[in-house]
Formats: sequence, structure tokens, C-alpha cells
Amino acid sequence: MKKRFVIILSWAIALPLFAQTPVYLNPAAPIEDRVEDALQRMTREEKVAMLHAQSKFSAPGVPRLGIPENWMSDGPHGIRAEVLWDEWYGANWTNDSCIAFPALTALAASWNPDMAALYGKSIGEEARYRNKNVLLGPGVNIYRTPLNGRNFEYMGEDPYLAAQMVVPYIKEVQRNGVAACVKHFALNNQEIYRNHINVQVSARALHEIYLPAFKAAIQQGGAWAIMGAYNQYKNQHCCHNRYLLNDILKRDWGFDGVVVSDWGGVHNTEEAIANGLDMEFGTWTNGLNWGKSDVYNQYYLAQPYLELLKNGQAGEDVLNDKVRRILRLVFRTNMAPNRPYGSFGTQAHAETGRRIAEEGIVLLQNNRNVLPVDLSKVKNILVVGENAVKKMTTGGGSSSLKVKYEVSPLAGIQARVGSVAQVTYVKGYESPAEGEQDVKNAKKPEAKTIDAKALRAEAVNAAKSADVVLFIGGLNKNAGQDCEGDDRKTLDLPYAQNELIAALAKANPNMVVVIISGNAVAMPWAVQAPAIVEAWYNGTEAGNAIAAVLFGDVNPSGKLPFTFPARLQDNSAHAAGDYPGDGKNVTYHDDIFVGYRWLDKEKIKPLFAFGHGLSYTMFQYGEVSVNKSKITAAETITFTLSVKNTGTRDGAEVVQLYISDKKASLPRPVKELKGFKKVYLKAGETQTVSFTIDHAALSFYDDAKGAWITEPGAFEALVGASSADIKTDVAFEIKR
Ligand code: GLC
Repeated sequence: MKKRFVIILSWAIALPLFAQTPVYLNPAAPIEDRVEDALQRMTREEKVAMLHAQSKFSAPGVPRLGIPENWMSDGPHGIRAEVLWDEWYGANWTNDSCIAFPALTALAASWNPDMAALYGKSIGEEARYRNKNVLLGPGVNIYRTPLNGRNFEYMGEDPYLAAQMVVPYIKEVQRNGVAACVKHFALNNQEIYRNHINVQVSARALHEIYLPAFKAAIQQGGAWAIMGAYNQYKNQHCCHNRYLLNDILKRDWGFDGVVVSDWGGVHNTEEAIANGLDMEFGTWTNGLNWGKSDVYNQYYLAQPYLELLKNGQAGEDVLNDKVRRILRLVFRTNMAPNRPYGSFGTQAHAETGRRIAEEGIVLLQNNRNVLPVDLSKVKNILVVGENAVKKMTTGGGSSSLKVKYEVSPLAGIQARVGSVAQVTYVKGYESPAEGEQDVKNAKKPEAKTIDAKALRAEAVNAAKSADVVLFIGGLNKNAGQDCEGDDRKTLDLPYAQNELIAALAKANPNMVVVIISGNAVAMPWAVQAPAIVEAWYNGTEAGNAIAAVLFGDVNPSGKLPFTFPARLQDNSAHAAGDYPGDGKNVTYHDDIFVGYRWLDKEKIKPLFAFGHGLSYTMFQYGEVSVNKSKITAAETITFTLSVKNTGTRDGAEVVQLYISDKKASLPRPVKELKGFKKVYLKAGETQTVSFTIDHAALSFYDDAKGAWITEPGAFEALVGASSADIKTDVAFEIKR
């Protein structure tokens, strides 16, 4: 009785308080009510202040109303260290050393949406704990050329794969009360000339290739923010592009979140106001030029906007729409009820990173079953290569991280081998020293001459007496390699690695090449190297994941998210000389034929195909069947087959479904990825795998009609272990 009395009494006291609590402060009130209530309490100055940066990574709230600031943080692979208020340099905090998760190419290479969900959950927890309510990632720009310095931050060459992998990442980030800010919208497919290059591409290729992952991020992932790209489309900067932001993103896709500029991506106040930009960030004045500090009030959406409002040249309605979106972001994040607290730098997150890395590592070649290394037979292991020891979590541009720790490949191998065998290390090759990134007054590294010949001779000599040679090379995060702001100049490996690998293979046939990179590289030595592994940038636990695969604790199951062409000119952006454009414009003459779509069309054999990846076991595919051979455009169709693990080890296989439209009114790719399933099979186990697709998987975008079309006619479903390894197929038809 007494308890009931107390409850009634407390409600009697609380209710009037609630009644006086402004709606926007009431966590139980619907978000839109909170938005409207807050909006009508704000002054014009407070509204404009919210639209632009006040520091490197923050924008003002409304202190008078208790509405907090919005804090952004890079990046897609981990939470960037705190930087100074108005400088890119690190603030040297002692509690911001994060867990670095694998690069997004590695996540895409897992072909496992569950890993994408786990990734989003974990990085969202780290962002939440660091009190950042907007994560500046993931990136989903399509891999168009293997030279793009930022491909490591993206999810490969196929829009369907990128779309399937980005949605769970975003959903799980946002479950932490942190907004994902998918980027860079759109057509940011090269770094050279990135701040102004005007991309000329057909509406068809835009809708079929370059937009689908963004559309999925918004419509299925429910992203609360999106970042405009630096480049131009239709001769208008993407950060204030009427067609991309107002027409496609906000009108057609129904985006209700915030459009954030890339840092310094804004160039015009009137366009920024009218064309859908909501928040402007940057560096000093117009973002791209070094200038005096603290000029945020001079930003395009700052004082200049206020002036236009005051003299009636800009309307309150557009301003209010921008502010509504930002308030919605605040009530979805900082002021959301029951927001979790996050966690940071935890062993659980390190384990997440390791699991994703292990699922993403791709076994490209394994002649004579050189892998896995059998420690019961091998007593003397030689590890060669700078990438066995080089830090890969720092550098690369805005995705650079200050990590709690990073296990190098050498350290991972040493930890795994222990005293069972002897591990010797020689550098073999060396890259020029790079200045430290984001460090104020960083000392310039002393220029030293690198004697590549001597390094190579030492390694080759050591290789002669080893039982197995593990070469760990590839690219790195140095400028001009896998690094933001520029592109590579060649498909070749740098630092004379090709000569070294060929010499090592000659000196010792028991040799494994591990490539650490975010891009395809040429492999003139692929015939001599019995085993080749693509090990990506795998973050904090990289070395342990690589060792687990090399020594067989983990059976590799990764598949390539982009093609490895044998030659640069086999790639669509280079075949016709499109890339990198003339400095003003770049034209995508390859249109929808990007990646494997191009090689299929031109009948070019890749070095390693999109979707390729081997296992330490074998899989056998049964014949695919179809539930009905004729469907209407409104019906679904289901394909079913059995897959058996015929080897002696448990393993996982990514079963891929491609659809081929045998006859269409417009040219179509030979086939396109429209389904995939990662199946885990014990040795000897058989599973039934099925795919159900609908018209969306059968349609194409018709520029002339400005719509997606599903045409009747003959189709084929092709199921395989990669785009170049089709195991079984079945015909079907869309009836008129
Ligand atoms: C950079 C990048 C963007 C990053 C932003 C903040 O220039 O293009 O991806 O999030 O600026 O560092």
C-alpha cells in the first residue's frame, strides 16, 4: 500500500514538472515535435551558427537552450585522435588511442554482412565513448582505377557488393546514437585533381554503378548524414550540387538527414544555400587555402549567409529546413533517450578487428599447397620485407589513426611460431622515410640513400638456407601510395619489390608472397611465386590475423572486391585513356562497363578476378535449379543448389549469383552480381543454398526514360566461386 502511495505521490509531483518541460527537452516526445519546438525557440543568428564549423571537427549547438554541439570524427576504420581546435595537428591527449579496424576493402573482401554489422557496432561504440555524434564514414565510392589513392577506404568495384556491406555497418553504428556520414557523394573516384575535377558520366552509369551503394546507405541503412564530395558533376561542386543533393538525395530518395560538406568543399554561398548543403566544414577560409585561424564566421554558410537573410535575399524557409535536419541529428544522437555509453580501446574491439581481418584475407594462389605452413616440418622461417614491420595504421590521410597497439606481420608470425621454429627477419627492400602525419613541428626525416641491391642480396642469400620464405610487401600509406590526396602513378609495386620477389623465388621455391595493399598491383612474378595472399590493411590485429591464415589456424575465405588486372590498360578507366582527365574534366567513356563488367565485355583475362579467393579445402557445386522458368516482372524467382565441402578441413565459401540479360534494348554487361551467400561447411558437409531475386535484380536504368526498366525476355542465372569461375547456370524468362 505504502509503495503504491509513494508512486502516486511521485507522479503527482513529476507530472506538473513534465508539463512545464519544453517539448524539445522531453526525451519521450516524438523527434519531429522536439525539432519544431526547438526551431521556433531559436534566433536567426543561432540557426546560422549551427550550419558551419566552429573548429576543425565541431559545429555550435545552442547553449542558451541546452542544445549540444555537433562533434564529427574521422574515419571509416577507427576514431581519429583528438586534434587541436583549429589545426590538423594532434592534441596529444592521453586517452584517445583507439582500436584500428581493418580497412573497408578488407571488410568488403569478407563478403559477410554479419562482419559489417559487427564492424559498425564496434566502431560506433568507440565513437560514442569518445563523445563524437557523427562518424565520417563509411566510404563507398566505386573502385574505378587501381591507382586511386583512397580505394582502401572504400568497398570495391561492384555496386551490389558495396550496397550489401554498407547497410549493416551504418545500422549498427547508429544503434549507438552516433550518425554514420556515408561518403563521398558522389563520383569521387580519383584523388588527383579531386578538388575541382568535373566528372562527365552518363545518367545510366551514374544510376547503375556510382549511386546504388549510396542509395542503399540512405534508404536501407537509414544514414543520418552524408558527405558531399570535393569534385564536380554537371560543372557544379558536389557539396552544393542541385541535381545530386536536392533532386536525387532529398527529393527522390527522401533523405531527411544532414548533408555535410567535405572539408573545404564549399565554394559558393548562393549555391550552398539553394542546393541542399546543410553543414559546412573546412580549414580556415574557403577550406582549401591556408589562412589566418578562426575565420569560421567567414565561411560561406556563416556571415555571408546571415547578410543575405538580413537583406531579404535569402528566405527563412530554406534556413529552417537546414536547421530542422541538424536538430533531427541532435535528437537522434546527443539528446536521444536511452543512448548507450559506448566503449573504447577494448579487447572485444580488437577481437572484432581480428575476426574481420581473418575473414577478409584472400588466398589468391597456392600452388603445391605451400600454404598453410606446417610447423611440424618447418624449422627455419625467413621473413622478408619492409611491410612485415611497417606501421600501417598511421598515414594515408584523414583515415590515419593513433592506435592503442598494432601487431605487425612479423610480430604476429613470431608470436604464432614461438619456439617451435626459428624466425629470421631481413628487410629486403625499403621505402623513403615519410614525415609523421598530424604532428606539430614534426621533425623532417633525414634523407638517406637506400641501397636496394645490397638489401636484395642480403635477403636472397638468407633465403637459400630457409625452409620457407614469407615475403611481406605491397604498398603502404606513404604519399603517392595508398594515401588520400593523390594517386599512384603505376600499377607496379614500388621500391624494386618485383626484382626482389623474383630473386627470392629463384633462391627458394618454398616461398609465399603476402601483399599488404588497398589496391590491385601488377604481379610479373605470379608464375614463380607458388603462394600469393592479399592481406589488406588490417589494423590493430593485422599481424595475428595474417599469422593465423599463414599457419592454418584460420582457413582463408576472403574474396576479391575488385579485379586484379594483368596490365593497367586492361582496366576500363585506362583502356580508352580516360583517367585522370585533362585537369578540368574526366569522362567515363566506359560507362556502365567498370571492373569485371569491362573485362567480360572486352573478353580480357584478369590476373585475379573479382570475387576470386581460394581455401585450404575444396568445394563442389551442384547444378542450380529454378523454382519456375517463366515469371512476370512482378514476381520473384528462386535459384537453388547444393554446395559440398569435399576437403579435409572446415571452411567457408562465398557462393555468388550473377545475372545475365541475354537480350535487352540497351547494351548490358555479360553478367552482374545480384546475390551472394557465405556458407560455413564442415569437412564433408553439404548445404543447400538458395537465392530469391525480384525485378530489381533484372532491371536496368534507361537514360531516355529516366527510369529503371525490367524488360521481358531471356535471362540466365550463373552461380560460381568468382566472376570468372562459374560452376553452374540455368536459363529463365520474364514473360511479356
Ligand atoms: C578529408 C576527406 C574526408 C574527411 C575530411 C575530414 O579531406 O576527404 O573524407 O572525412 O576531410 O578529415
